Amino acid sequence: MYTEKVMDHFSAPRNVGEIENADGIGEVGNAQCGDIMKIYLKIEDEVIKDVKFKTFGCGAAIATSSIATEMIMGKTVEEALKLTNKAVVEALEGLPPQKLHCSVLAEEAVKAAIEDYQKKKLNK
Ligand code: FES
Repeated sequence: MYTEKVMDHFSAPRNVGEIENADGIGEVGNAQCGDIMKIYLKIEDEVIKDVKFKTFGCGAAIATSSIATEMIMGKTVEEALKLTNKAVVEALEGLPPQKLHCSVLAEEAVKAAIEDYQKKKLNK
């Protein structure tokens, strides 16, 4: 039911953890399944220098957050904002239909972390 790519990111997730003094933190949840995803960003000159995540959720949520962190690492904030759940699913070579919402969570968590960064920047 899951692709090898999903299983790989689920069993060996990349960039797990927290970033101290993160420049942006995004936390989102899905009310229906109760899963929660949190993304931390370190940003310098509008470039994502580091990204970590913590996901309390299903295997697909762990795999989507893991690959999403890889997809935005080293990217500019503007590029990272363009990350879609569709791109996340493609990078994982597919997800079962009932697990597509897990990839939406990854897109939302990245966007929420960037919004948090932009808000903090305005208040500096
Ligand atoms: Fe809800 Fe995966 S089952 S995020």
